[in-house]
Amino acid sequence: MCRPTYYTIAYEINPWMSLKRQADSRRALAQWEALHRLLTHRLGARVRLLPPRRGVPDLVFTANAGLLHGRTLIRSNFRFAERRKEEGSIASYFRRAGFRVVTLPRRYGFEGEGDALWMRGRLLFGFRFRSDAPAHEALARLVGAEVLPVELADARFYHLDTCFCPLDNRTALWFPGAFDRYGRRVIEQLVPDLISVTERDARRFACNAVAVGRHLVIQTGISSSLARRIERRRFALHPVELSEFLKAGGSAKCLVLHLNHISK
Ligand code: ARG
Repeated sequence: MCRPTYYTIAYEINPWMSLKRQADSRRALAQWEALHRLLTHRLGARVRLLPPRRGVPDLVFTANAGLLHGRTLIRSNFRFAERRKEEGSIASYFRRAGFRVVTLPRRYGFEGEGDALWMRGRLLFGFRFRSDAPAHEALARLVGAEVLPVELADARFYHLDTCFCPLDNRTALWFPGAFDRYGRRVIEQLVPDLISVTERDARRFACNAVAVGRHLVIQTGISSSLARRIERRRFALHPVELSEFLKAGGSAKCLVLHLNHISK
């Protein structure tokens, strides 16, 4: 994770961001601290902190730093110049922490765990808005597993982790409206137990949740019917208010990057 010391809305690169809707920095910090405390104190996760840097406000969304594969970080190639400035900090942090850092060819956009999520030994890869489809071959070679590219069809759900969330090896949350027909079929064939969320819950970033074992950290304000469907699968819900980060188009999942992935 990365503390939101320098977090602001400094530009508009997705439909949620507006320079006219500034984040309250004190509230953002308190919300982030609550998320951090929940993950570390209550759920027992070990969290490492990437040092914040002035001038790169979206560095807090560490899900986009890259994708971990063992001790290798496949570092992101950001789509927008504003976020490309994060790449240096990310690479040097991970190198210093003892990881190997590799990149995909520069011509391909790739936004890390924001667009690449493991499900049943396959890497589901969302492309179009931030990541480019042809990156999937290089990605498959690096992770040594099958990569399933699915096109994202709705600009509001510009990263895969805004519309798809693996809960366990059988179950995932998703917003079907964010995919095209082909993508929906790929996901339906891959995941035995799909929980579809309504557009209202999707807009509330319900799919941008973090599963820690049978615990699910999820944005506050999701519908009670969705909460019930998740709880019926024996997950304990931990709602977190991340309103200041929604203003940048992100919630809980965007704020964390998994370091110890069980990829297969
Ligand atoms: N403002 C950031 C961007 O547009 C938000 C990133 C959200 N991250 C995510 N994994 N969905 O790039």
